[in-house]
Amino acid sequence: DWTAGNIAEEQIERIRTQVGDGKAICGLSGGVDSAVAAALVQRAIGDNLTCVFVNHGLLREGEAEQVEKDFVAATGAKLYIADERERFLTALDGVTDPETKRKIIGREFIRAFEAAEVAILKAEAGTGEPVKFLVQGTLYPDVVESGGGEGASNIKSHHNVGGLPEDLDFELVEPLRTLFKDEVRAVGRELGLPEEIVGRQPFPGPGLGIRIIGAVNEERLTLLRKADAIARAELTAAGLDDEVWQMPVVLLADVRSVGVQGDHRTYGHPIVLRPVSSEDAMTADWSRLPYDLLSKISNRITNEVDGVNRVVLDVTSKPPGTIEWE
Ligand code: XMP
Repeated sequence: DWTAGNIAEEQIERIRTQVGDGKAICGLSGGVDSAVAAALVQRAIGDNLTCVFVNHGLLREGEAEQVEKDFVAATGAKLYIADERERFLTALDGVTDPETKRKIIGREFIRAFEAAEVAILKAEAGTGEPVKFLVQGTLYPDVVESGGGEGASNIKSHHNVGGLPEDLDFELVEPLRTLFKDEVRAVGRELGLPEEIVGRQPFPGPGLGIRIIGAVNEERLTLLRKADAIARAELTAAGLDDEVWQMPVVLLADVRSVGVQGDHRTYGHPIVLRPVSSEDAMTADWSRLPYDLLSKISNRITNEVDGVNRVVLDVTSKPPGTIEWE
């Protein structure tokens, strides 16, 4: 019988069998997959799991808090927070090329995660079993796509820190390997995770870093976060979350146009709305959002976000346009 409850029970049992008294760590991204994987493992092994959240400062409004407060409140999971906002801002300083941004964010993320790993391994050392397991939120479509078959896989992590072995072999725990996205959401709801996490639309790992067209800095991030929060809130209020696959909100940081507000001339930045409908993100069509909704989002963003004087709509399908702008 397929119910979210049965799936959760079965996976929790499997995790207990695999991990036993061992210890595990799990990275949380703010997304649904890692949150559900972590919640399952937490149910199975309790405080033998340490969750790691690397805050790269590129998340949207409220998302870091959803991990740091709401996820912990809902699951009781032990969480290690690495506030790495400074690291990412410094590494991204002045960088405008999209692929370079992605590479930098990926590289710094691995460094930050490994630093967190080391801190956890040291804290856990001498408290019983060593940390041997790494939890990952791999879904069934990822398994198929990478041609992966049966069997436990291992992942190697390099450390160059006194007191720890240089190479650590983590055994992977992948409780979502047989599940599709909608099943993962159902299991997450069954485990009592907040709707903001479970119902979240896809969001790229590099986050707002690739939704600022131009160099990334704190001021631009703050601006984009405000515009994005307004757009998301209005989309939700209009009841269109299920119809729209995702709606990237993009800041054209190096473009300015002339505007007028009250009796002032302005010279501000455009915000692009990129709402798309899609089945799997491989292809997409631009969403025909109601004009009233577009108008409301545009009015609110230009009134409430300093530095933005124009809102434009992306009416390009994929192909030829990708969903994200970078
Ligand atoms: P594109 O822009 O290629 O995006 O049409 C397709 C889907 O993938 C998401 N995306 C990413 N997700 N890391 C991720 O986890 C990434 O680097 C990344 N880049 C794009 C995008 O939001 C869309 O859902």
